[in-house]
Amino acid sequence: MDSILIEGGNALQGEVQIIGAKNSALKLMVAALLSDDPVTLTNMPELADTGFLAHLMRHLGAEVATGPTGTMQICAKSLGEPVAPYDLVRKMRATFNVLGPLLARKGRAQVSLPGGCAIGARPVDLHLEALSALGAKIELKEGYAYATAPNGLTGAKISFPFVSVGATEHAMLAAVLAKGETELLNAAREPEILDLANMLNAMGARIKNAGHASIQITGVEKLHGVNYAVVSDRIEAGTYALAAAACPNSDVKVSNCVPSDLDALWAAMQRAGIDVQTSKTSVRIRRGPERLRPVDLETQAWPGFPTDLQAQFMALMTLADGASIIRETIFENRFMHGPELSRLGADITVHGREAVVRGVTGLTGAPVMATDLRASVSLVIAGLTAKGQTRVSRIYHLDRGFQNLEANLTALGANIRRVKDD
Ligand code: UD1
Repeated sequence: MDSILIEGGNALQGEVQIIGAKNSALKLMVAALLSDDPVTLTNMPELADTGFLAHLMRHLGAEVATGPTGTMQICAKSLGEPVAPYDLVRKMRATFNVLGPLLARKGRAQVSLPGGCAIGARPVDLHLEALSALGAKIELKEGYAYATAPNGLTGAKISFPFVSVGATEHAMLAAVLAKGETELLNAAREPEILDLANMLNAMGARIKNAGHASIQITGVEKLHGVNYAVVSDRIEAGTYALAAAACPNSDVKVSNCVPSDLDALWAAMQRAGIDVQTSKTSVRIRRGPERLRPVDLETQAWPGFPTDLQAQFMALMTLADGASIIRETIFENRFMHGPELSRLGADITVHGREAVVRGVTGLTGAPVMATDLRASVSLVIAGLTAKGQTRVSRIYHLDRGFQNLEANLTALGANIRRVKDD
């Protein structure tokens, strides 16, 4: 296993280019299962997670080839047995979303339930209810969802009791080939939902109002191939912006991103005293030597503050001049970075879904352990600001979602490298 070693204390200066969004890319790959024709995805991130999903899709009979510089070709002309086994599903929840497309294409599917996850229970009941509303018969046994739709899927009105990104995407993936009209109410509005709808529409689907709380879908007979560029990763952009904000005297331009996807983050950073200048496709982050102001925030579905940036923002607040309260409303167990940040000298108390972060004047390097994807990058950010050496172990979590993290941070002036564990 690898670790990351950081000697903290450097300012970050320069420019970093953002690549395609992991959370979008995975759902776009799944969408390729809906067509007989080849699909080409560009601006693809090269991550452990896209590799896991490609493995599952090949198992299902799709041809998946990765080309140079972020290109992926998928052809799902001849799908085999629609069975997604536990070993290929358990590593990542997004794999569960193959169920809808398999049902639409094959009329039946057997997909392992994704199981728990380090950041909370994360059930799939809303996914299953949406598919049942579209006419699927689903039985849960031995850890698998066994689903059939011998006469195909039929459009329906589906009202989600609360916002779920995964369930909204899954319902869209199944409804595009269902007979008739589907309406999704209380749908998620994240930019990744719009990206998926844009790709499906470019394949011939008829989806209206994606990005709004109520989405209308008119089913079509067939989807055709497409060449589609994945939307830029707002979480990666926000992570580099927060890394720059955490290091005194930094000046970093985050390019090839969509700053308007992150207004809640910029507002919180400005409240902390950071200079944030956005343009259409880039954002410049500057901060001086002075301490930051504490900021209270709570995570929310889009357009609120993203849960995927909560850990990174907490790393920033560990050095603020006062106490901040961070509330996590999406997941019930997403503060595991708290105790690890405390190992670096942060003062954090967690009460249920609320963390009180009392800013300290400095962090000190220490060995810490990554617990999930976004938590691990918060430890890297804290390590960049800490005096002395920080060793982040279990960084396979990081490799799930950040491409070239050490190279990008090194180019900005950080002292960071990957080492093999003894
Ligand atoms: C969520 C985040 C998304 C983030 C991703 C990875 C939100 C709304 N969603 O998406 O921004 O990129 O995690 O960290 O911020 N739930 C159920 N039953 C279901 C599905 C979900 O109870 O069938 C619950 C989840 O446990 C969670 C909430 O609904 O508490 C939102 O989950 P959902 O949006 O579906 O999760 P992801 O799609 O993983």
